[in-house]
Amino acid sequence: MICLGIEGTAHTAGIGIVDDEGKVLANAIKMMGGEAGGIHPREAANHHVVEIPIQIEKALEEAKMSYADIDLIAFSQGPGLGPCLRTAATAARSLSLALNVPIIGVNHCVAHLEIGRKVTGCDDPTLLYASGGNTQVIAYAGGRYRVFGETLDIGIGNMLDKFGRESGLKFPSGPKIEQLASNGGKLIDLPYSVKGMDVAFSGILTAALQLRKKGESLEDLCFSIQETCFSMLVEVTERAMAHVEKEEVLLGGGVVQNKRLQEMVRIMAQERGANMYVPPGKLCIDNGAMIAWTGIIMYRSGVTMNIDDTSIRQRFRTDDVDVTWRE
Ligand code: ATP
Ligand code: FE2
Repeated sequence: MICLGIEGTAHTAGIGIVDDEGKVLANAIKMMGGEAGGIHPREAANHHVVEIPIQIEKALEEAKMSYADIDLIAFSQGPGLGPCLRTAATAARSLSLALNVPIIGVNHCVAHLEIGRKVTGCDDPTLLYASGGNTQVIAYAGGRYRVFGETLDIGIGNMLDKFGRESGLKFPSGPKIEQLASNGGKLIDLPYSVKGMDVAFSGILTAALQLRKKGESLEDLCFSIQETCFSMLVEVTERAMAHVEKEEVLLGGGVVQNKRLQEMVRIMAQERGANMYVPPGKLCIDNGAMIAWTGIIMYRSGVTMNIDDTSIRQRFRTDDVDVTWRE
């Protein structure tokens, strides 16, 4: 069985083609640029209107396939920005009807976890999902993927991008901040905010911007933002792992490409006798392959959807998903 997956929750238009063994045959990704930073849902949707057909062609070419080879269409049903989700869903419905193949709507956060399990070989991980719009710690418990901790305000990547924008860095700023941080070394006090199992980033953003105006160096601020925010993430991830008694930690989302974050998680894991797993970069960021693979395992477990069931779910919760494909 071959599945074509369409990702379109936010900035990224992604088309993946995956077979039923989880082999990624194509993974075409186009992220919307935006020097000014920030995301305008309607502009992103317009970007996807143009890019989804282009990326479908690219993916088919990469997989050396034609439309006739596709047996299943999967798409990102939520959570995400309404106009973007609607564009991806419309493309998916059109393809499903035109090719006369089944359609499956996939939860985006669960897809990050499932592709990670598939490609890294971990079995039952705690996922630290840190991207632009999302920051969650997720693990499987009692037949569901449960969120053990999450951001109370903005996603960590959005915080990095906003700090970057105000500091004259290009979007996306995460990689640039990582580079600048490696030249910094003074740990500046920023509001470390862990509340129970949750985290918050907007206070750190405000404080860092104020300190920048007061003349702290950009390098030291980037260093301190990373140390503070990543420590918060590692703290809640470790507590979730202890609570659910799991020995694997999986990373997902664009921010986990950060080497310092990986290092901190690795040390935490080693100290508890656990292992860290990191998928390749193109499977960490938003991508169509993770949607396609999750579509396949859902379909194989008996999930079917009519076109009526494919309405988008902007606030689709991770723990709303009925996990029919695991024991
Ligand atoms: P989602 O819809 O899942 O929230 P997204 O559209 O924000 O995703 P991703 O591709 O998962 O997209 O992640 C993009 C984010 O990752 C951006 O905020 C970017 O700044 C950040 N990022 C990318 N590389 C790094 C890095 N090396 N260090 C820190 N952050 C990074
Ligand atoms: Fe994502």
